[in-house]
Amino acid sequence: MSQYNAFENFIANIEKAAAVLNLPESDYANLKICERELKVSIPVEMDNGGVKVFEGYRVQHSSLRGPCKGGIRYHQDVEIEEVKALAGWMTFKCALANLPYGGAKGGVIVDPSELSEKELEKLTRRYTIKILPFIGPNQDIPAPDVGTNSQIMSWLMDTFSAMKGYTIPGVVTGKDVEIGGSLGRAEATGRGLHIVIKEFLMLNNISPATTRVAIQGLGNVGNVTAEYLHKLRCKIIAVSDVSGGIFNPDGLDIKSILQHVRAKKLLSSYEEGTFTRITNKELLLTPCEILIPAALQNQITAEIAKELKAKVIIEAANGPTTTDADTILAQKNIPIIPDILANAGGVIASYCEWVQNMQGIKWTVKQVNEVVQTHLIESLNLVIQTSQDYKISYRLAAYVVALTRLVKAHKLRGIFP
Ligand SMILES: NC(=O)c1ccc[n+]([C@@H]2O[C@H](COP(=O)([O-])OP(=O)(O)OC[C@H]3O[C@@H](n4cnc5c(N)ncnc54)[C@H](O)[C@@H]3O)[C@@H](O)[C@H]2O)c1
Repeated sequence: MSQYNAFENFIANIEKAAAVLNLPESDYANLKICERELKVSIPVEMDNGGVKVFEGYRVQHSSLRGPCKGGIRYHQDVEIEEVKALAGWMTFKCALANLPYGGAKGGVIVDPSELSEKELEKLTRRYTIKILPFIGPNQDIPAPDVGTNSQIMSWLMDTFSAMKGYTIPGVVTGKDVEIGGSLGRAEATGRGLHIVIKEFLMLNNISPATTRVAIQGLGNVGNVTAEYLHKLRCKIIAVSDVSGGIFNPDGLDIKSILQHVRAKKLLSSYEEGTFTRITNKELLLTPCEILIPAALQNQITAEIAKELKAKVIIEAANGPTTTDADTILAQKNIPIIPDILANAGGVIASYCEWVQNMQGIKWTVKQVNEVVQTHLIESLNLVIQTSQDYKISYRLAAYVVALTRLVKAHKLRGIFP
């Protein structure tokens, strides 16, 4: 297990927000324990004829405000405490974005790059069967996360539909457009990050042209963020992926880098133009206006925070900053736009996809983008206002806004029986 217990950190943030709001424990005790935790075994017949058994999870943290919603992660380091934290963050992210959803997350301990396409399909279909009684468009709606994609969501939807006897597109979001996916969903998280950054720069009278950006991770989220920030004329001076990073103080050739990584190649094999190779640690310590961790959790540790030189951190990944690093960064007056606000564009667009599926309608990309933008800007302004009202960090303010809504829902619904 990781030295950081993400779920304990999540609960600590709830406690801090409850203290700000002066809430009695009985108002929020239900958010400190997940509603349901499912652990499953997934046997897969491999291409070589042998059988491998994988372990997977689906955790539903809270359904107070609506059906549970959250991605599925395929990664070799998946562990239950992390899945619980990711589920809890989804509850707070959906509440902050004011979506009618609760929070969930799933994961399978597997390195998907080591499986063939056929093995990956078998794994996904068997995992779907194992969690099938607990998911559904009114119950719990999965989506892609690290290591999963629209193809995996399509297999999940097909398996679920086959078992029910009719096509049910609303059981997952992040599907391909041809089978009920939404226009605008694939790039919504990165596009949303750029909306938040653009608004934040405007509110602080900072010109994008004088803004140097470093981005860790160039996957689904990082590469779209880089594209939009480049279009906004920010100067992207450092980027990285799992193989390491590259740096140019005058700005990198983003178009050519994105072409390379979108062809599923690692940055270590990128050789165009002028740059210096750097490590992921060096990327996090790059002097810049905006640092965007867009890879995995627990990247900005206390050790990194002590030397960090960015002026602002925008969390694209879920949980990239450890709690002790958070404290150090607050002492250094480095503001953090937290994950549950900054990366919410993805789940807002997922909500658009689900609404279209439930009603059998199709929205234009303009309609989807407008919904994403409205919810994100409303959340950002509310978080900034709350942070000023209570003189607290943006992260704590985001928890305060979300917790207020969750406690209200709890009071309205009461306890059954
Ligand atoms: N996909 C979404 O819509 C979405 C929505 C909200 C939040 N997120 C979060 O954003 C983060 C990234 O998700 P994604 O969908 O882009 O994943 P992805 O798998 O597409 O990309 C991950 C990127 O991080 C890099 N990476 C992996 N390990 C690394 C390491 N040790 N050091 C540096 N780089 C490393 C990979 O090379 C890749 O470039 C995750 O925390 C995820 O939970 C994703």
